[in-house]
Amino acid sequence: MKITKNELHTLLVEQLRDILWAEKHLVEALPKMAEAAVEPDLKMAFTSHLKETKGHVERLKKIFGHLDLTPRAKKCDAMEGLLAEAKSIKDDFKDSEALDAALIAAAQKVEHYEIASYGTLRAFAKRLGYSEVVNLLTATLDEEGAADKKLTEIALGEANEMAAA
Ligand SMILES: [Fe+2]
Ligand SMILES: [Fe+2]
Repeated sequence: MKITKNELHTLLVEQLRDILWAEKHLVEALPKMAEAAVEPDLKMAFTSHLKETKGHVERLKKIFGHLDLTPRAKKCDAMEGLLAEAKSIKDDFKDSEALDAALIAAAQKVEHYEIASYGTLRAFAKRLGYSEVVNLLTATLDEEGAADKKLTEIALGEANEMAAA
């Protein structure tokens, strides 16, 4: 079975709508994560990724523009679930020393979802020959990867401190 260009285009648009919903909701969730974080470097990581995330929404709007479509979001059940989990873990650990570690765990699941989504979207766009869309998706994918790496660094720093104590 060979997928037609038309079908792949439809799938790409569908998935773009999904990630647009996800990014818009992340813009609402990240300030709460930043507020909850204890360590200043984690607070800063969330705050600076919030700024990038607003840029991801703008980039997606640009992509819809390139495709001559209005940027319409479609509810992303996966991100809704990940954010619900983030909220409950944040509440459950609010008085715990492990709060930052809990926030990092939730945030990394989100970043990995985004990395998977943008990686797939980029592969679709490449196959369709949408080079400008590929470039925009790559820019966001790079920032998602860097955000994930930063969270790992913060988590490892914490772990090292704990080992030293
Ligand atoms: Fe993002
Ligand atoms: Fe992200």
